Amino acid sequence: MLFDDDLSVAQHPLESVFPIYQKVSAVELTNEEKSILDGKQGPARQKAMEIVVALGKIYGAENLIPIVSAQISGVSYKNLGDPGLEFLHEWAKQGGQVSVPTTLNPAGMDLEHWQELGFKDDFAKKQLQVIDCFQQFQIPPICSCTPYLIGNLPKLGDHLAWAESSAIAFANSVLGSRTNREGGPSALAAALLGKTANYGLHLDHARLASYLILVQCPLQNEADFGALGYKVGKLVQNSIPYFRGIHHATLPQLKALGAAMAAVGSVALFHIEGLTPEASMKHTLADHYQTIEIQDLQDGYQKLNSTASDIDMVAIGCPHASWEEIQHIAGLLMGKKVKAKFWITTAAPTYYFAQRAGLAKIIENAGAHIVSDTCMIVAPLQDLGIRSIATNSAKAAYYAPSHCGVQVRYGNLRACVDAALSGRFTDAG
Ligand code: F3S
Repeated sequence: MLFDDDLSVAQHPLESVFPIYQKVSAVELTNEEKSILDGKQGPARQKAMEIVVALGKIYGAENLIPIVSAQISGVSYKNLGDPGLEFLHEWAKQGGQVSVPTTLNPAGMDLEHWQELGFKDDFAKKQLQVIDCFQQFQIPPICSCTPYLIGNLPKLGDHLAWAESSAIAFANSVLGSRTNREGGPSALAAALLGKTANYGLHLDHARLASYLILVQCPLQNEADFGALGYKVGKLVQNSIPYFRGIHHATLPQLKALGAAMAAVGSVALFHIEGLTPEASMKHTLADHYQTIEIQDLQDGYQKLNSTASDIDMVAIGCPHASWEEIQHIAGLLMGKKVKAKFWITTAAPTYYFAQRAGLAKIIENAGAHIVSDTCMIVAPLQDLGIRSIATNSAKAAYYAPSHCGVQVRYGNLRACVDAALSGRFTDAG
C-alpha cells in the first residue's frame, strides 16, 4: 500500500488526549475509492486519495466521509516559495478538478490592485502563477480566511476539510460544523475527492471540552476577546475550552476569540455556554476537566504590545473584516484624513459590497485602503517599507513580529483608528 511507511506529519492535537488516535492498520475503502487509489480515475485524484488515506491510517480513521466544502491554505507565495509553487504546478498538470465548493486562503497580495499598493513585479508574477495552479483545479480565485462570510457557509453537523486555523475554529465552534485542522495539501486532496478521513473532530466524542474557563472580567470589544483568546490559547494549547461567563458576543468578537486561540495555542474548537450551538444543545464538558479562572486581561494586552509609538501602518481585518466592521470603520473615518498607511483587509466580495454601499468611497477619501485577497501577515510587509503596525487583532499582533519583522501595538478599533489619524499609538482603548 502506498504511503505506509514514510509520511511525516505533525502530531495531531487529539492524539495525546484520546487513545483512539493511535495508529491502526487500515482504512476501509469502497470499491470506487479503491479504484481511485489504483489510479483508474487519473493521477491527480490518485495522489489526492493517497494523501487522504495516509492521514486516515495515521489517525485511526475507519472510513472516508463526504464533505460539503473545502478551504485551502498555503496560497501566499511569501509562504510557499518556489518549492511550494512547483509542487502545486506538478499536481495541477495532472488534470484534476475539485468536487465540492472550494475557496482559498489569503494570497500574498491584492490580486487586482497590487501595483497601486506597491507590491513588486517579481513577487506578483509568482503569486499569479500560484493562483493559476488553483484555477486549473477549477477553484475560483476567491482568497479569504472568512469563507463563511462570502458564501462558503456550512451548517450544523456538516463535515468539511478546512485549513485556515481561524476559520476552522469558527466553523467548528460557532457554526457547529466539523473539520480537523487540515494542511494545504490535505485540504486540496479532500476538495478533489469530495471526501476526507473520518477521525478527530468529525467524531462526537472528540468534541468534548477538557477545560472549563470561568470568565470573571468584562469583555467590551474585539480586542478584549482577542486578549482573552491569547491567554486561554497559551493555557490550554491544543485542547478544547468551554467558556462560562460570556453572555454576549458579536460575530467580529467571536472570530477574534477563535483566531487568537488557534494562533497562540492550536485550538480548533471552543464552546461558550448559552451561545455556541453544541454548548447549547448538549453536554459538552468531558467527565474530567480542569478549571481556569480569568479575572483580568492585563497580561494579554501586555504580551501583545511593544513600546513603539510611531506607527507606519494600521492593519484591521485579521481575520478578514466583515461587512459590519467596514461600516464601523467608515463611520469613524468619515470626513477625516489618515497620516499612517491604513489597510482594512477583507474578501473581494465584501469589498464589492462596500463599494456599492458607498462605504469604500468614505474610507478611500480618508486615505485608507480596503485591500482584498491578502492580509498583513501573508503579504511581504517589509518590502513595502513597514516597520511598525497597530492592530486590533490578537492573531496579527502575535504573528507580525516573527512573520513580518515589525513592531506591534495592540488595542481596540477606536485606538487603532486614532493611531491612523495621528500616526502615533497612545492608548490601547
Ligand atoms: Fe486571516 Fe491573515 Fe489573519 S489569513 S486570520 S487575516 S493572519
